Amino acid sequence: MKVTVVSRSGREVIKGGLDLPDSATVSDLQEAIHKRTKKFYPSRQRLTLPVAPGSKEKPVVLHYKKSLKEYTDGNSTQLTVVFKDLGPQVSYRTLFFFEYLGPLLIYPLFYYLPVYQFFGYKGERVVHPVQTYAMYYWCFHYFKRILETFFVHRFSHATSPLSNVFRNCFYYWTFAAYIAYYVNHPLYTPVSDLQMKIGFGLGIVCQLANFYTHILLKNLRDPSGNGGYQIPRGFLFNIVTCANYTTEIYQWLGFNIATQTVAGYIFLVVAASIMTNWALAKHRRLKKLFDGKDGRAKYPRRWVILPPFL
Ligand SMILES: NC(=O)c1ccc[n+]([C@@H]2O[C@H](COP(=O)([O-])OP(=O)(O)OC[C@H]3O[C@@H](n4cnc5c(N)ncnc54)[C@H](OP(=O)(O)O)[C@@H]3O)[C@@H](O)[C@H]2O)c1
Repeated sequence: MKVTVVSRSGREVIKGGLDLPDSATVSDLQEAIHKRTKKFYPSRQRLTLPVAPGSKEKPVVLHYKKSLKEYTDGNSTQLTVVFKDLGPQVSYRTLFFFEYLGPLLIYPLFYYLPVYQFFGYKGERVVHPVQTYAMYYWCFHYFKRILETFFVHRFSHATSPLSNVFRNCFYYWTFAAYIAYYVNHPLYTPVSDLQMKIGFGLGIVCQLANFYTHILLKNLRDPSGNGGYQIPRGFLFNIVTCANYTTEIYQWLGFNIATQTVAGYIFLVVAASIMTNWALAKHRRLKKLFDGKDGRAKYPRRWVILPPFL
């Protein structure tokens, strides 16, 4: 089979095209492109079928496991594919590991080291119990996320653009320093003992619930990440589509009730709005996939993220 590889502007990416066996898969084509242009390893490549000029239709993305024949539209000797360079990629595990490692290391620096001397506070720093508990709570949270990244989540996408590492690290690392600075500050005023207990109590229950929601999501796929998107069921998923985000938001609320800083509440608002946007998209996707037509299951009525509001 003769495969012509063109860019979105129609320019030939692989001069003279590629000759592949009739039984070749999309993955074989990606390997062949990689062989000819070392820079474009398979996860950097996005291959689609050409769309008619002026068409508003979304192009069909070639799935690496499928045979090329499935995309040939009857003429199995000739295929044209459109190539897009997705840029340098990193694995999802690498991305998540680096974004969570920052907060795990940065926060304790403000607790253990005399950093406030550099900001002009020369006197002895009195450490309140809430500051100690907050440090353990924070580190437990990010340590849990790193463990979940390696041992729980079954990602459907192997890689993410390298640029996301810098963007996400900036977000997580800056907020970690901002919150740690205020919670560990020598002039920090602790909340009442009761408020602290309520806050951390709520937070710990929600962290455990969040862990359980991740186990339920993991069980929707096989160990290699196959299985696509399924209807999450059981526990809080019977009420809300993104129970993992709901419990994540409430555990940050617990942390903020216990520590009470403006910095912590700003992070809560920003994180909640990001997760709300993602939750709306995930809810829409599941409703579309499970539309109750042609034998497909119908997505049950559920809240999106924060019952009883959304
Ligand atoms: N504080 C913050 O700013 C913040 C922001 C975001 C997340 N988080 C925390 O980090 C955790 C992970 O975040 P995330 O955005 O990666 O979570 P996510 O996408 O909702 O889910 C985690 C894993 O479950 C899979 N999954 C989700 N829905 C599924 C379905 N219907 N069927 C099959 N598999 C499904 C995902 O697959 P895919 O690989 O296909 O996506 C992913 O591997 C969150 O639950 C939350 O605790 C915190």
